[in-house]
Amino acid sequence: MPTMRRVHLTQFLIERQRDKKLINADLRLLIETIARACKAISTRVNKGALGDGLGGAATRNVHGEVQKKLDVLSNEILLEANEWGGNLAALASEEMENPRPIPTRYPRGEYLLLFDPLDGSSNIDVNISVGTIFSVLRCPKLADGRDCDPDEKAFLQPGRSQVAAGFAVYGPTTVLVLTVGDGTHAFTLDRESFTFVLTHGDIRIPQDTEEFAINTSNMRRWEPPVKRYIDECLAGSDGPRGKDFNMRWVASMVADVFRVLSRGGIFMYPRDSKNKDGRLRLMYEANPMALIVEQAGGAATDGRAPILDLQPKGLHQRVAVILGSRNEVERVTSYHK
Ligand code: AHG
Ligand code: MN
Ligand code: MN
Repeated sequence: MPTMRRVHLTQFLIERQRDKKLINADLRLLIETIARACKAISTRVNKGALGDGLGGAATRNVHGEVQKKLDVLSNEILLEANEWGGNLAALASEEMENPRPIPTRYPRGEYLLLFDPLDGSSNIDVNISVGTIFSVLRCPKLADGRDCDPDEKAFLQPGRSQVAAGFAVYGPTTVLVLTVGDGTHAFTLDRESFTFVLTHGDIRIPQDTEEFAINTSNMRRWEPPVKRYIDECLAGSDGPRGKDFNMRWVASMVADVFRVLSRGGIFMYPRDSKNKDGRLRLMYEANPMALIVEQAGGAATDGRAPILDLQPKGLHQRVAVILGSRNEVERVTSYHK
């Protein structure tokens, strides 16, 4: 069998810059820097009980959630990697209440970076996949033409404005999923060369599925459209759908979405009577995932409208999320109408 030419992340990005003119050098460097930070986080996650990353950090984040040591560490790794490159105006994170402008000792660039440094942190201590999610926006110029002021308002752009989005999964293998607007592509970390190698080019999510992902412990609190959809899935071949469904719930969105990208499926974290606005965060969880899923031919809504069209009101705003195989997402969305 002829050996396949390996395409590394750098080459992939250079092609998007030079040939396709989809990104500029600054955005390319930014994505490379994020990827490098993800490799560092992957190494720390991998140490498990041999490192000092397991367990709680005795602090709470802006959502009132107890931070894990690895939440804090991953946040620091991403901040340190990204503040000096000269391509960012500011960063925002799940783990920080306010956006952080780039320190004045470094040049300021035109991009804004948002991230969930460690997604699925309840899974760290039990050796289940976790990950990092990120979203890149352009910092808008002010109305009078002056350079952008990277305060919270600058970040509040609909997901449609993202210029890049991606996530890493630290699982049995470390995989980086990326979109810069020409489809969704995934790279596997080669532990020998410590580089990301393109392994899943132009991912397409099957339109139909027999697999759903939802935390059923919230069932009694769901709204009627979600209850109806799941009831019909559970009724299987005896119900109106006329086919059996399977269920998966990793409780790490990165792993659940990677499964949806790999073999289809529908992933839902709907609003319910306890989580009135849903549980997941719009700016650094739902928006990047929605762009990645749409770029792979899937759909993402909050039950009413495409996630990417929502006008954000706050950096840490929560949102209901229904994403994955297009026909199933459209069905649940139609039950809401
Ligand atoms: P985070 O660890 O960044 O707070 O996010 C966890 C999220 C998401 O990854 C997952 O889908 C969901 O929370 C799991 O929620 P439940 O524990 O309610 O199942
Ligand atoms: Mn998360
Ligand atoms: Mn997190």
